[in-house]
Amino acid sequence: MILVVNFGGQYAHLITRRIRDLRVYAEILPYTKITLKMVREIRPDAIILSGGPSSVYELQAPKIGKWILSLGIPVLGICYGFQLIAAMMGGEVRRSKGEYGPTKVKILDRSGLFEGWDEEETVWMSHSDHVASPPQDVIVTAISENGYIAAFKHRSLPIYGVQFHPEVKHTYKGSILLDNFVKIAGSSRDWTENRMISLIKEYLKRELEECSSISSAVSGGVDSTVATFLVNQFAGDRLTSIFVNHGLLRKNEPEDVLNLLERTGINPIYIDASKEFLSALRGVKECEKKRKIIGELFVKVFSKSLKGRDFDCLVQGTLYPDVIESGGEIGADRIKSHHNVAGLPEWIKSKVKVIEPLRYLYKDEVRRLALHLGLSKEIVERHPFPGPGLAVRIIGEVTEEKLSIVREASAIVEKVLRKKGFYNKVWQAFASVGDDRWVGVKGDTRVDGYIVTVRIVESEDAMTADWYELPSDILEEISKRITSEIPQVTMVTYAITTKPPSTIEPC
Ligand code: XMP
Repeated sequence: MILVVNFGGQYAHLITRRIRDLRVYAEILPYTKITLKMVREIRPDAIILSGGPSSVYELQAPKIGKWILSLGIPVLGICYGFQLIAAMMGGEVRRSKGEYGPTKVKILDRSGLFEGWDEEETVWMSHSDHVASPPQDVIVTAISENGYIAAFKHRSLPIYGVQFHPEVKHTYKGSILLDNFVKIAGSSRDWTENRMISLIKEYLKRELEECSSISSAVSGGVDSTVATFLVNQFAGDRLTSIFVNHGLLRKNEPEDVLNLLERTGINPIYIDASKEFLSALRGVKECEKKRKIIGELFVKVFSKSLKGRDFDCLVQGTLYPDVIESGGEIGADRIKSHHNVAGLPEWIKSKVKVIEPLRYLYKDEVRRLALHLGLSKEIVERHPFPGPGLAVRIIGEVTEEKLSIVREASAIVEKVLRKKGFYNKVWQAFASVGDDRWVGVKGDTRVDGYIVTVRIVESEDAMTADWYELPSDILEEISKRITSEIPQVTMVTYAITTKPPSTIEPC
């Protein structure tokens, strides 16, 4: 495996995902937790030092021991990691004019890390410091169009550094560079679905031993379904799964989800709590308040359904980024269930052990695994859907009328995209509605109608997103269908703002 040392921000996840895309297992460790002893135990094939927001010359800057450079295994520093290697080896890092976005670099040595690169390539830069004078023992291997050192390698040791971000898609040959690094590391390409399953099996075997009765909340989303499916395989007779309908689901979703789950061998207890949720949301306009009410009520309904059942373990579809973000790490302690489930009442927290079969995986890996396990394509391909459901696609108060508009309009968006073959090309696609009105003419009558906004985005991980340039005839079809099939709607708009500065959901 390859160890990615995290110096802050989201970079480390993207690097890890790219390495795993090359079928090599990679894990993240925060720089604060890495020790020589631990590295000796984990025995990674190579180490990557990630980017980060700090400056190496600041007193409080994140550091790592110099021992990292004398382990004898390949080390690659990216951006901050590159500057850190330079500083540790006696080079000088200084503030510069900075380079941001696509930048041309000239490659001076097209072997090793840069094999397969042309003499001039475009890379993605994002830095305000630069390596002003390189350490004595390195050879500069790339220079940017602004004259800054863009990469170097050690004269005799397998130590490399790049100022740009090979993990970002806009560095067009970034994955070739990472692939070259994996070759240098000699890692085996064995991060396959079968290896994922054996890792999860090992985890479940160990963790489920203490469980006499297990519960799981399934939503039909890919994470909760795959997590429940896996536990069901190992502990079917001990598992009770529950599907709560909070009344904020998409059109026909309760029936569809129950059908899909049944075909997967999961037969959840169905709880229709829609009335309770809608009445709790009455009069509530602010987004965060809606989220809080829904979250708390969900836990209440779920816990109530568990009362009287003597369960001691709870399945969660937690993914790898959340394990890392909540302070956990896998490499260091080889798994301890520590993950805290937000919002659960004390009586549950004190008695349950949380089972997280997907804690090693990224979302795209869960999708791959689901297909490998033979789960329905419908489950795998469904767009992510927020826990608070349509409440966050309604701006202002959630009323029956707005709920029905958003439900119908979203169903139209999905139907048209599926028909035209675009559904699987985008990350999310939905309609939203607020309280603003647009005067329309329907037949001979003036109608003070609702404005529906259609949002269709491309994204890799929802941290950033681009609006999708859907052909105009398809947009027109969506608009026509929404205004003709939903009488209260007089205007359809298309959201053309990226994230950031916008968010994906309107509320
Ligand atoms: P935003 O709107 O923050 O959304 O750009 C990023 C991703 O997160 C989903 N989302 C949520 N998921 N509870 C959830 O479980 C929420 O309250 C929530 N809000 C947003 C959203 O659908 C997108 O995929």
